[in-house]
Amino acid sequence: MAELREVQITEEKPLLPGQTPEVAKEAELAARILLDQGQTHSVETPYGSVSFTVYGTPKPKRPAILTYHDVGLNYKSCFQPLFQFADMQEIIQNFVRVHVDAPGMEEGAPVFPLGYQYPSLDQLADMIPCILQYLNFSTIIGIGVGAGAYVLSRYALTHPDTVEGLVLINIDPNAKGWMDWAAHKLTGLTSSISEMILGHLFSQEELSGNSELIQKYRNIIAHAPNLDNIELYWNSYNNRRDLNFVRGGDTTLKCPVMLVVGDQAPHEDAVVECNSKLDPTQTSFLKMADSGGQPQLTQPGKLTEAFKYFLQGMGYMASSCMTRLSRSRTASLTSAASIDGNRSRSRTLSQSSESGTLSSGPPGHTMEVSC
Ligand code: BEZ
Repeated sequence: MAELREVQITEEKPLLPGQTPEVAKEAELAARILLDQGQTHSVETPYGSVSFTVYGTPKPKRPAILTYHDVGLNYKSCFQPLFQFADMQEIIQNFVRVHVDAPGMEEGAPVFPLGYQYPSLDQLADMIPCILQYLNFSTIIGIGVGAGAYVLSRYALTHPDTVEGLVLINIDPNAKGWMDWAAHKLTGLTSSISEMILGHLFSQEELSGNSELIQKYRNIIAHAPNLDNIELYWNSYNNRRDLNFVRGGDTTLKCPVMLVVGDQAPHEDAVVECNSKLDPTQTSFLKMADSGGQPQLTQPGKLTEAFKYFLQGMGYMASSCMTRLSRSRTASLTSAASIDGNRSRSRTLSQSSESGTLSSGPPGHTMEVSC
């Protein structure tokens, strides 16, 4: 005779006829996400609460795209121009997106009380599992900028099995040395916090050019009602530990990585050095011409194209999902081994004809995108 077991059902809603608690839980989660076309949630973590905004619906067997913004920004001011770029729609419709706001950076965030202990970047990384658990997502492709790129890298080091790929824009994996500290302190004597953060985000050339974009971001940061919170995130960034990437060592990123930096951007040297420390078989390095410090704001088209190839290299985005224009561009890339036929030094994408998916060819390459 089959053994009878006591089953604890904590579900408050009545189950539908023939519905198991597991199916009911999945349905509830699906319904929660289905409603989430840009809905903001927050979860409690051991380091305080964190907000995130979910767009799209989860796709079976696909990772979520999870973004983490830089200091002085929030998910919207950092990523909206990229995610709302027309060509990006074709890509993101295939993925659910989770946009994390660092604590106190979400729109309308109250100012933290005096003496509030802001999480370190390592602790910010430790909050990510709480978000994924809440959403029941098992793997991600991370897109991070500056401090956000550091947070996602730290998360990938501690949870390598949950990260399928990383796009790291302006990453500086090194802790500040004493020379950097001296320079930082000196700058702090003559500059406001907002000017220091602008100097972290944009090149000196861009700042003195004072374009509309710079005026917009100068205004956003200088007049942010949560500027005190921003300063706390800034301090955590400046106190970051060294990520200690060692090529061929244990402390390295195991997933495919696309490193991105604008040429003449403030973090160009750091990203070049980072590239030299990562596994060349897993890392692509994209140096963008004419993009300044924030390529995702100034060159969303180029970044979208590079992201598409990155996903194709990981086996996502079959060519049948792409528009005719994208397919013909890919074909020319594969054959001409160049994005514009002139500027790119090396191309490494190849097409697997049987599966219809695109996979990366000989990895460890540099792309210079100039569309
Ligand atoms: C998204 O579709 O993922 C998105 C939309 C608006 C702002 C940021 C992201």
